[in-house]
Amino acid sequence: MARKKIAAGNWKMNTTIEQGIELALRVANAERNISITTILGVPFTHLFPLQKKIKASSKILLAAQNCHHKTSGAYTGEISPEMLSAMKVPYVIIGHSERREYNHEDNALLALKIRAALNSKLKVIFCCGEGLEIRKANTHINYVKNQLMESLFQLDANEMKNIVIAYEPIWAIGTGETASPAQAQEMHASIRSMLQKKYGKRVAENTSILYGGSVKGNNAQELFSQPDVDGGLVGGASLNSDEFVQIINSF
Ligand code: PGA
Repeated sequence: MARKKIAAGNWKMNTTIEQGIELALRVANAERNISITTILGVPFTHLFPLQKKIKASSKILLAAQNCHHKTSGAYTGEISPEMLSAMKVPYVIIGHSERREYNHEDNALLALKIRAALNSKLKVIFCCGEGLEIRKANTHINYVKNQLMESLFQLDANEMKNIVIAYEPIWAIGTGETASPAQAQEMHASIRSMLQKKYGKRVAENTSILYGGSVKGNNAQELFSQPDVDGGLVGGASLNSDEFVQIINSF
């Protein structure tokens, strides 16, 4: 089975519900390659209204952008994986660099979140990636390896079916500076070989690895043509339906 090609939008903390519905419907109704798995990572408040508005036939899947690591309890302001799965939200993004930075989420906490999400039958888009200092010091591969080892590699091979990895170098997020296709390919191939060492060839071949960090309509094709780049996690450009559709159609 060939691994999935995925275009995932990450809207972050953008759009009102009304704007979000309009944006999602534009993507849903656009002329696009529906063999590409298309995911919209939207604010919690948007999940329910979007489920009502988007027809199943449009093959758009929703993702939450975070979840808590407990099922329920006295955690004011949090959303549990169970709540998402009861709503039939298929995906959750875990470990985005903005949550690591602003909400102090570390590898150990992210391991708990991944475990909790899988226990609730969610699929996880797990984000990893290095900052500029690490890149300059040329230790980026080991840095990402450590992120995977401390958060993800607790899972068994069977559970890895529910994981998508998103490599997002922090220096490329929202900066307009993209990793070159060769830089992306180098990291993606390294991640795949880490998967192979830990889980064997089948898991390595079947796990989709997305690139994120200033993916745009005009650079997606080159990035996605790299052999180990299976798609993108797209922030800013996913807020423009025409550009996001262009990205979906760049495979
Ligand atoms: P960007 O964000 O495309 O705006 O760089 C990517 C992300 O944070 O997922």
